[in-house]
Order: sequence, then C-alpha cells, then structure tokens
Amino acid sequence: RLLDDGPKPLAGRTAIVTSGPTHEPIDPVRYIANRSSGRQGHAIAAALAALGAEVTLVSGPVTIPDPAGVTTVHVERAEEMRDVVISRLPVDIAVMVAAVADWRVASSSGQKIKKQPGEAPPPLLLTENPDILKTVGHHENRPALVVGFAAETQSVEENGRAKLERKGADMIVANDVSPETGIMGGSRNRVKIISRDGVADWPDLPKDAVAERLAALIAETLGAKIGA
Ligand code: CTP
Ligand code: CA
Repeated sequence: RLLDDGPKPLAGRTAIVTSGPTHEPIDPVRYIANRSSGRQGHAIAAALAALGAEVTLVSGPVTIPDPAGVTTVHVERAEEMRDVVISRLPVDIAVMVAAVADWRVASSSGQKIKKQPGEAPPPLLLTENPDILKTVGHHENRPALVVGFAAETQSVEENGRAKLERKGADMIVANDVSPETGIMGGSRNRVKIISRDGVADWPDLPKDAVAERLAALIAETLGAKIGA
C-alpha cells in the first residue's frame, strides 16, 4: 500500500512528535536512560505524515531509521529535546511519545570518572528534568491538540487520568509497560485512550496499527475542534 494514496485530512496541518529515550550523561562514556526503542513514536510520526501533516520528529538516541516523509531532528538529552520542541511552536498537533529520563545527573563530569582503588563508588546526585509535555500543554502557543503517553506498570487508567490533568493534555495514550507484557521493545502495543470524554480500550495491535488509528483519531478530533 502506498502511503500517498489515501485521504489527507491533515493536509496543511503541522505536527511535532517526540520519540525514543533521552540519554543523560554521567561522564563522557556513561549515561542514564529509560528503555525505549522509538518504534511507537516513529510510527506515529509516519502515520501523521501519511494523513498529510507536515511532521517534525524529535528523536532521542534510537537504532531504527528515520521515517520517510518526516523531518527528523536528533537529540541526546531532555533539555535539548525540550529546546527543539519549543523552537518549533506554534504547531497544530503535539504528540509526546518519548520516554524522557525524569532525572539527569546534577553535575556531569567532563572527564571519565575513574575507579579509585579502595574507595567507595561515587554517589550520583540527580536533579529533575524539564517536563516537555507539561511545558507544551501549558504554553502560550499551546497546540490545538496535545497528546501524551503514560507508561505505567500499575493503575494504568487512574495514573493516565492524573497525567491528562497535570500536564494539560487533551488525550493520554496509556499503556501497561510491565516487562511481562512485552510492549517495551516489542512490535505490538495495547493502549487505553483517555480523554475528558472517557476511556477507550483498544485491542492488542501492531505498533504501526496503533499509530494509524491514533493518527485517524487525531485528525477527527482536530477537525471537530477547529473545523476540518
Ligand atoms: N514527558 C515529557 N517530559 C518529561 C517526562 C515525561 O515530555 N520530563 C512526557 C512523556 O513523553 C509522556 C508523558 O509525559 O508523553 C508521560 O510520561 P511518564 O514518564 O509516563 O510520566 P511522568 O510525568 O514522568 O510520571 P512518572 O514517570 O513518575 O510516572
Ligand atoms: Ca517519567
């Protein structure tokens, strides 16, 4: 199937998508990060582009290729990701899929930290990273539609609802990322779509199919909101 031959309900719309993990340096050779393949975020960027949107994908370090038909900007750290996202506003649609590291090392070392014989391991002092979704959700140039994800290992719906409110999002795609689900790093996903209208429980689907369904829902919701 050609990506180009379907209807284009998002023609003339702009979108920004974050994807992948962020890497927060400890020193030049070490980092802390979340687990994330970037597969779901990259698929969403491609699916929005297939519906005609002009998409910027801001990707943390991943091993998968840049999607075709999308402008991809590569970043390492959460603060870099935030800066690129904010620099692209205003846009019509923001979908924040990245597994952003919640903390970074307070003062990372410019030199490789060496083991010191007989000394205790070095402590890591962490500081909180900016919340990119929350920043976008409350921004003066807030996109008409702001979509976030909620990676949970328990109380998926309750935690997803709390994130919807706290972050100023219109929609939260919540999923159970417990290791036994195989979602992290896998090719399938099972999500709940949480909005102020209620909750929709989607079946277990390939990540590409979740992306297509989500892009169609975004087009429909945006059309209802600001007129298609
Ligand atoms: N997010 C973000 N910037 C951060 C942390 C999270 O943009 N610093 C976004 C994610 O991309 C996702 C949503 O916020 O769209 C929820 O991320 P999640 O990690 O589930 O929520 P947190 O608010 O970080 O809460 P916690 O990890 O404690 O559950
Ligand atoms: Ca988090």
